[in-house]
Amino acid sequence: MDISPSHNQSIEDLDRQNMFHPFTNPRQHTETGPRIMVEGKGVRLTDNRGNELIDALAGLWCVNVGYGRQEIVDAIAEQAARLPYYHSFASMGTEPGIHTADTVRRMAPGNMARVLFGCSGSDANDTQVKLVWYYNNLKGRPQKKKIIARDRAYHGVTVASGSLTGLPSVHNAFDLPAIPVVRVRCPHLYHEGLPGESEEAFADRLAAELDAAIEAEGPETVAAFIAEPVMGAGGVVVPPKGYFAKVQAVLKKHDVLFIADEVICGFGRLGTPFGCDYFGIEPDLVSVAKGITSGYQPLSAVLIGETVWQTIHDDSDHLGLFGHGYTYTAHPIACAAANANLAIMEREGLFQNAATVGAYFHRRLREELGGHPNVGEIRGVGLIAGVELVKAREPRRNFVPSAGIGKTFTTRALARGLIMRPMAHDAIAMSPPLILTEADADEIVGRFAETLRELEPMMAQAEGE
Ligand SMILES: Cc1ncc(COP(=O)(O)O)c(C=O)c1O
Repeated sequence: MDISPSHNQSIEDLDRQNMFHPFTNPRQHTETGPRIMVEGKGVRLTDNRGNELIDALAGLWCVNVGYGRQEIVDAIAEQAARLPYYHSFASMGTEPGIHTADTVRRMAPGNMARVLFGCSGSDANDTQVKLVWYYNNLKGRPQKKKIIARDRAYHGVTVASGSLTGLPSVHNAFDLPAIPVVRVRCPHLYHEGLPGESEEAFADRLAAELDAAIEAEGPETVAAFIAEPVMGAGGVVVPPKGYFAKVQAVLKKHDVLFIADEVICGFGRLGTPFGCDYFGIEPDLVSVAKGITSGYQPLSAVLIGETVWQTIHDDSDHLGLFGHGYTYTAHPIACAAANANLAIMEREGLFQNAATVGAYFHRRLREELGGHPNVGEIRGVGLIAGVELVKAREPRRNFVPSAGIGKTFTTRALARGLIMRPMAHDAIAMSPPLILTEADADEIVGRFAETLRELEPMMAQAEGE
């Protein structure tokens, strides 16, 4: 068999013939083909046709330190040369993972006791489900197994994490949810608020609904609540003031664990080390991925709080070993990348930069776009932002989904060299690298505003809901 690269076809055709792209319409992809990136530096990417693009999404919300960091590249190369792989089953280990665990555990919110590594945010949340089940089995409460998750949440796509995700496209035609999930309302005042309702009143209502949902299911059957501090893929949703304090009080009352999904918010996205720090959340369990390596290597982790850990440590002896883990748990190259990445974040004060440049970015978004008749809401914290495009502002009228406004908007922005992602309700998501400067922020806002002007005729024609 000839395994040398095929050079008689374009790279685009080879892609079309071989690749199955995630979150892509297969038929459309066959027609339009791929966009292929070849290089990155700072907040900018270059594609194989030589176009330079500003990556206002940091890959998929993950390249926190930006592209082209030689320090991380060197750490990866050195570890690969010294010891590319060894596992961590049966008390084995390698040095980089132990250091990553130590750093991340000390940085983490709440009272975290141990770190268990994986390779993706999805597998981290799958592990969380299994840990919560394991914990309640150890505690002699085998019926306490249901997980509460919110509408529009994104927790991944594997069988368990996809079940926790609250987006129809992840469920439809995949027979999900496949685990016992209790769905509660998305904490988005703009969509879910009653006429004239204040943030505080909305938060009270959400907490009362959560309480009622747990009572209806039976608290003895409800194990955990999972939440992103700020929702990302659901459309960048910042909860109303006081929400998490009220939610935590309800969970405590019913002895329900809090799983913080910090896959996007962790490592500085909101201008604080973790999203939990921003909102005063005291989690029992935390999932991290993405920013832990800034995407230079695949790595995720589950942080296990003291309460759960004590039970696992003290009460599982009769089971022998803990029967879970991956070939690549604590992969030494991924952890070497994490260690170099976390050192850069600390040395360059990137969490603080996310707070200060983030505040500037949000101010500029509001100044430039806030008055536009098709901009319904500008939302976010630190360096995560969502701009929702609407047919009419007061009262809010979204576009019909079939108009495809969000998708057209991001396609036109891409033609202007700006990468963003369309989310539900035509919310345009941005989550740039944490090294963003004010000048970069101005460029993003400028290209966004130009795209908005270009699409005015289309938005005038498109139908509203
Ligand atoms: C909050 C959150 N959790 C989990 C995931 C899943 O991570 P992965 O795509 O690495 O499986 C994502 C991915 O975007 C995410 O945003």
